[in-house]
Amino acid sequence: MSQQDEDVIKRWGTSAPYWEKHRDVIREMFAPITQALLQDAELASGNTILDVATGPGEPALGIAAAVGPAGKVYGIDVVPGMVTAAQREAERVGVKNAVFEVAGADKLPFPADTFDAAVCRFGVMFFPSPVNGIREMLRVLKPEKKMVLAVWHFADNNPFHYELARVVDRYVEPTPLPPDAPDAFRFATRGKLVGILAEAGATDPRERLLKFSITVPGSVEDFWTLRCDMSDKFREKLQSLSAKERHQLRTEAIEAFQSYATEHGLSFPAEVLIVTGRKGASHA
Ligand SMILES: C[S@@+](CC[C@H](N)C(=O)[O-])C[C@H]1O[C@@H](n2cnc3c(N)ncnc32)[C@H](O)[C@@H]1O
Repeated sequence: MSQQDEDVIKRWGTSAPYWEKHRDVIREMFAPITQALLQDAELASGNTILDVATGPGEPALGIAAAVGPAGKVYGIDVVPGMVTAAQREAERVGVKNAVFEVAGADKLPFPADTFDAAVCRFGVMFFPSPVNGIREMLRVLKPEKKMVLAVWHFADNNPFHYELARVVDRYVEPTPLPPDAPDAFRFATRGKLVGILAEAGATDPRERLLKFSITVPGSVEDFWTLRCDMSDKFREKLQSLSAKERHQLRTEAIEAFQSYATEHGLSFPAEVLIVTGRKGASHA
């Protein structure tokens, strides 16, 4: 296993219990993205679908319902804690047609020409080599079938991210990331991931901008807990502060969140790129 894989496992391994704890809220918040993935993947009942970097099981579990009992979904993630969380949820809700396995995106444990579609929600930006991950997805897709990937558009267009980040930056000096570092916004620039799909050999790579609302149930205080829990970076930065600073930071963040409060929770305008490509009819 490469050093980069080990770093990802460490980073996301610490987040797995939190992503499991907030699973229902995360599912609801990102439901419009799941819908976009389902739509663009051209799924049909009875299909066999791959979800790469499934985390605690989404969108795999949503897709399992869409393909019906004659269909099947395989969800893979490099972090064992994420995979056991996904398996627990499948068991809990009685989903029989979803299988979860530990695997890295650049070494998928499936034969060539297996899947009717492959999806990946917020995963490709963390791959050690995105082009190798895309090549693997192309290998396991059946000829002429599609992959659909969701990545964040710019942080500045996504208050779900920037409202907390800007407050945290006032307390902990942000360290600039090396270019192309694994990060949520690695593919925020239009055309960047499309170029990687082209480099990997995908046919007809393209993207569309999905504008939607992230709807979060609960109070602004609940949202504070959710946002801090979801991100290993925020958790680490908060740990580096004194109790007094943490308290102050929390007060400022909660105040910033207030402007998104609605009758039913919070609502953030959001922007995500949906990137698609096909395997050719005679892919090498
Ligand atoms: C932001 S979470 C997304 C989880 C889920 N797809 C969702 O949208 O709720 C990113 C996931 O990517 C996984 N991941 C990162 N690098 C990976 C790799 N090289 N291969 C497989 N999974 C990876 C992490 O373990 C984590 O579960």
